[in-house]
Amino acid sequence: MSGPSSQVTSMLNAIHMNGATFQDTGSDASRAKLLGAERSLECVRRRQYGEPYLPWLSARKRVQEPTDKDATTFKKAVGTDLHYFEWIAQSGVEDKLDDFKAHIEYKTLGTLGKKRFESVDVQHIFRISTDLGAVLLVDMGGGFGHDLIEFHNAFPHTPGKLVLQELPMTIKNLPKDFPREIDAQAHDAFTPQPIVGAKAYYLHMVLHELPDESCRMMLSQLVPAMQKAHSKSLLNEIVVPDVSAQWFSTSVDMLMLMCHSAQERTEGMWRDLLERVGLRISKIWDCEGNFEKIIEVKLA
Ligand SMILES: C[S@@+](CC[C@H](N)C(=O)[O-])C[C@H]1O[C@@H](n2cnc3c(N)ncnc32)[C@H](O)[C@@H]1O
Repeated sequence: MSGPSSQVTSMLNAIHMNGATFQDTGSDASRAKLLGAERSLECVRRRQYGEPYLPWLSARKRVQEPTDKDATTFKKAVGTDLHYFEWIAQSGVEDKLDDFKAHIEYKTLGTLGKKRFESVDVQHIFRISTDLGAVLLVDMGGGFGHDLIEFHNAFPHTPGKLVLQELPMTIKNLPKDFPREIDAQAHDAFTPQPIVGAKAYYLHMVLHELPDESCRMMLSQLVPAMQKAHSKSLLNEIVVPDVSAQWFSTSVDMLMLMCHSAQERTEGMWRDLLERVGLRISKIWDCEGNFEKIIEVKLA
C-alpha cells in the first residue's frame, strides 16, 4: 500500500465495493463510487470536516502522490492557508471542533469500547519505578489530554509525572478544570524534545497525519531525548494488515491522504520508517484485535 491509487484500491477492497476487487482506473466515475461508499461516507461524515473537499476531490482529473504536509487537498478545497488544526481552533467552526472531539473519542474506544491501556499490560510496559520526581509519560500531541486524564484516573497513585505536550493554541484552550496532577506544556514536536529521559513518550495518532519525511523530522527531534535501556516511545496507531484491511482503517487512510498528505501504515512501513531514525520496534501490542495497536519502540 503506497500512493493514492493503491490507497483507493485498498479501501474499496475493504468495503467490498461491488462484491469484487476494485481496480482504480483514476477516472472520476471510480472516485465517485469511492466517495459514495456508504460506510466510508458515514465515517467521513462523522468527522464532517471531510465534506467540503469531497466535490473538489471528485472533480480532479489526476491523482498524484502528495508528499507535502503543508499543501493538502483540504486547504485547496476549503480555500485556506491554515493547517487543519489551526483552522479548527478558530472561532466560528466550533461545531467542527465538537465533531473532531467526538471522532477522537470513537477512535479511542474503537470496536472494543475499551481504552488502549485496558487492553495492554501497563505494568509490563512501564516497569514502574518508585521515583516520584521522574517523568513517567509524555503525551506528545495529546490534544486536550483525554488519554492522560483517563490514565491518571485509572492509575492515580502511579509514581512519576504525567506531561501533556501540545501546540500553544491547544494548551491555551485547555479547560479551566484541567487536572492539576497533569503538567501541560506548549511544545512543537518539530523542535527538540525538552524532557530528557522520560520513561515513555506517547504519540497517539500523530504520525499517521504526517507524510514519511515529516515523521522522520519529528522523530529525529525525539530520539536524542530518549535514554538507552530506559526510555521508550509508545505509538498508538493503526497497523493496516497486509491483506484484508478493515474498512475503518482504509477510510481513515483516505482521510489522511486528503487532509494531511499522509497515510496509514502496515507493519513493514512502520518498521522501515522507524529504522531510518535509529529506532526499532520491540513489540506490537495487538490490543485484542482492535485496529489501533500500541507499537512499543526503543533506541536501535
Ligand atoms: C489526531 S490528533 C491526536 C490527538 C490525541 N493524541 C488523540 O489521539 O486523541 C493530532 C494532534 O497532534 C497535534 N499536533 C500536530 N502537530 C503538532 C506539533 N508539531 N507539535 C505538537 N503537537 C502537534 C495536534 O494539535 C493534534 O491535537
